[in-house]
Amino acid sequence: MFHEIKITVVGTGYVGLVSGACFSELGYDVICVDKDEEKINKLKSVEIPIYEAGLKDLVHSNFVIHKRLKFTTDLQAAVASCNVIFIAVNTPTRLEDGRVDLTYVENAAKEIAGLLNEYKLIVMKSTVSVGTGRHLKSIIKKINPNARFDMVSNPEFLREGSAVADFMSPDRIVIGTETPAAKSIMDGIYQIFSDRNVPILHTDLESSELIKYAANCFLATKIAFVNEIANFCEKTGADIEKVAEGMGLDKRIGANYLLPGPGFGGSCFPKDTLGLVSAARDAGVPLDIVEAVVASNDKRKEQMVDKVIQACGKTVLQRKITVLGLAFKSNTDDIRDSSALTIVKGLQENGAELCVYDPKAMPNAKAVLFNVKWASNVIEALQGSEIVVIVTEWEEFKNLDFPSFGISTVVDFRNLYDPEDMLAMGVHYISVGRKTPNTQNSIKEVSRIKDNSLLIETQI
Ligand code: UDX
Repeated sequence: MFHEIKITVVGTGYVGLVSGACFSELGYDVICVDKDEEKINKLKSVEIPIYEAGLKDLVHSNFVIHKRLKFTTDLQAAVASCNVIFIAVNTPTRLEDGRVDLTYVENAAKEIAGLLNEYKLIVMKSTVSVGTGRHLKSIIKKINPNARFDMVSNPEFLREGSAVADFMSPDRIVIGTETPAAKSIMDGIYQIFSDRNVPILHTDLESSELIKYAANCFLATKIAFVNEIANFCEKTGADIEKVAEGMGLDKRIGANYLLPGPGFGGSCFPKDTLGLVSAARDAGVPLDIVEAVVASNDKRKEQMVDKVIQACGKTVLQRKITVLGLAFKSNTDDIRDSSALTIVKGLQENGAELCVYDPKAMPNAKAVLFNVKWASNVIEALQGSEIVVIVTEWEEFKNLDFPSFGISTVVDFRNLYDPEDMLAMGVHYISVGRKTPNTQNSIKEVSRIKDNSLLIETQI
């Protein structure tokens, strides 16, 4: 099938570039198209504009060595030399009403319409509201009534930071088609996965489009749920780690996406929950649960600011606070809707002096955070502060010797440390969904348990 399928990917963002590089790794000839000439020129120098594990190697191998992967700004040439066009341009949130902004996918469809002089398969890889595929079909037919094409929905389920791995080892592949021809070509494209027994779910356009939204909104719901249960744990002395573990052992629930944190962020969950909520409202069937998830998550980010203030004795005025982590999660440089931004700005509004550090996201953060000290590494970040707030679960934020930097208080929104250990170090430690053990008893108890022979009564 390889020689029959030639792919063009329109858009070289997180989804388009990963998809194009991975399709070329699978053996297909792929052309990645973008309007941004600077970005295309950087890609031609194997300069990858996003931080994704393994992506640079894939691009180098397929662009430089195997020459299966090409980059261009010339959409016309790309469309002329392929038979499958993946649209992977961004679909941001319309800030005024939360709806999905389809401007970029509509523009792509309009440009492609004029280039369809033989049968092509047009595949929506971007996350688009339900009904968009049918909507784009009518746009194309209006512009080019003689166009011979089929529209396909093929949503991606890539997590930032593990997008290449997620593409190469998907849980399932969802394909929405309307004709046997479209189905056959898509089966050919993903043959390598069906040969590996990856479930290929065939359905219609609308169901395929909705699967993406429903999956993301359900995952967001799990996170918002566990975060609210964590709040309840803090009031009742229950331990969220054990509660989540006990829940997750139920196969009907599953252990994943039950990690409590500062609230979900990123370019998808916030956008997709808002997008589905607004589309459902437009359809006259409000999604009360997803609306509650959006509200709960927004509230949580503000609550985290207050949690730090409470941990610092009800005021952070003129206190020196270090925030570790600016990305919305570890292993990415993406700060979109990151809880860290809400927390930094909230602490600044309450008079704190902020020092911030993130291993990868600093360049992006510098465009949106001001009047903060930018540390160049984690050691520098800890120096001179009395309070540390951990917001992103980067590996290098684990096993830090806080007392040696004079840090007296640590607020850990990712539960990277053991409360007992932290108290044994004499650090005032606040985490998520776990009790702060009683200082006196636990330090003596920990000393006694840890090493009888060198028992040193720790007097507070
Ligand atoms: C998500 C979906 O997982 C992916 O399938 C879809 O294609 C795109 O959106 P992504 O946003 O990249 O991927 O990251 P993900 O790892 O899902 O995390 C999203 C947010 O939820 C992050 O802020 C993360 O910190 C948070 N999270 C995740 C939790 O707070 N707890 C968890 O247990 C898991």
